[in-house]
Amino acid sequence: KPLVDERYDYLFKLLVVGDSAVGKTSLLQQFCFERFSLDQKSTIGVEFYTKTIAIADQVVKCQCWDTAGQERYRSVTPSFYRGALGVVIVYDSTFVKSFENVQFWLNQIQQYCPSAKLLLLSNKTDLPDLRAVPLDVAQTYAEEQNLAFVEASAKDLTSVTSAFTTLTSLIL
Ligand code: GTP
Repeated sequence: KPLVDERYDYLFKLLVVGDSAVGKTSLLQQFCFERFSLDQKSTIGVEFYTKTIAIADQVVKCQCWDTAGQERYRSVTPSFYRGALGVVIVYDSTFVKSFENVQFWLNQIQQYCPSAKLLLLSNKTDLPDLRAVPLDVAQTYAEEQNLAFVEASAKDLTSVTSAFTTLTSLIL
């Protein structure tokens, strides 16, 4: 018999993808546990965390899968993507290469979970002086690719919660 606080209307598998060090684990730690660490360790393989949120009277349990951005772990992909309803594609707003590689992640999604709802997330916006990817360039790209777009910082719970709520709303 489930405990009261484990009741939910929907269970959604969500993924967070993007290059190594863009902040995937940090975003999930903030969303699921409300914490942030400047020395977050690089992920090995795949892990998942859950967070239950309420949207428009519906209780949604988000099962959030975090994967290693490093190339040597990329063999895990097909099972990682299977059944995903939503994907957050993360890039580091201070690092151009991670934005250029968004297309690689989009291609993976188109191959392995083409019907998932997508959100492009510009991370590390708490470092405005280091911004390397202009906002308008990212917004134009997101529009062209039909991606929802948000700016966030893994340090800032409000922006992170809002990002995941936006993605979940697209699925509901
Ligand atoms: P892999 O596991 O290698 O794929 O990396 P990842 O994408 O999960 O990145 P991770 O969360 O490990 O973060 C990498 C580094 O960036 C860590 O030192 C984090 O503390 C830092 N970081 C992550 N998000 C932010 C952010 O929004 N702002 C700042 N200033 N630092 C961040």
